Amino acid sequence: MLITKNIKPADVILQNYHLIPIISRFGIKFGFGDKNVEQICKQYGIHTDFFLEIVNAFNDKDYNPYEKLRNMSLSLTVSYLLKSHYYYNKVKLPFIENLIDSLEWEEEDNVKNKNVLKKFFSQYRKEVTEHTANEETEIYPYVLELEQNYNNTGKTASSLLEKLKTKSIKDYAETHDELNSSLLDLKNIIIKYLQPAKNQDVTEQILIEIFKLEKDLTDHTELENNVVIPVAERMETELKNRN
Ligand SMILES: [Fe+2]
Ligand SMILES: [Fe+2]
Repeated sequence: MLITKNIKPADVILQNYHLIPIISRFGIKFGFGDKNVEQICKQYGIHTDFFLEIVNAFNDKDYNPYEKLRNMSLSLTVSYLLKSHYYYNKVKLPFIENLIDSLEWEEEDNVKNKNVLKKFFSQYRKEVTEHTANEETEIYPYVLELEQNYNNTGKTASSLLEKLKTKSIKDYAETHDELNSSLLDLKNIIIKYLQPAKNQDVTEQILIEIFKLEKDLTDHTELENNVVIPVAERMETELKNRN
């Protein structure tokens, strides 16, 4: 189903609950009543077309939002990516960590098993934190600076022209990794090697959360690779030609 501006978000969620974290990432709170997407977006100051691209991409794996997103302001994508970073670092990773803390084994094995799991989890958490921090301090400000100058048909800031002599988004594209490299270890530890915990339901919950986060992060990286990087590259070329 294609989600359009006339559809009610309440119906969208009833039809696909996987959209819940996406909708809340935009700051939209429950209690939509009978408002449609356009009315809700207006109420929250959200760019409706951008919102529709993101929710449609999450709703249908065959939906390709990239072309339309590349033609919208990069600041919209960056703002969404920043909200996603917050969600990973401040909501999901602490949530999974709490679940790990609540696992229980027989007394003598409890500390040992928990420490093994925590060690692998903290490696993963560190990977995500360092990756997102680098983007927030280096990459996103740079692409926003590119866009600001690109939109300003007057003089390009000399500070940016200096940067363009040595910096290129291509360097970032080459090193931009998938973010999930420590995840396989973590999943293997839980699925294959760790002694079963007494509360198997929590183990199950942890695994489901990890798989969901992995998918979310993969989509996130795709958005960076297919929107932020090519648009920034286009702007770099144009700005160099202009000056
Ligand atoms: Fe990111
Ligand atoms: Fe990234």
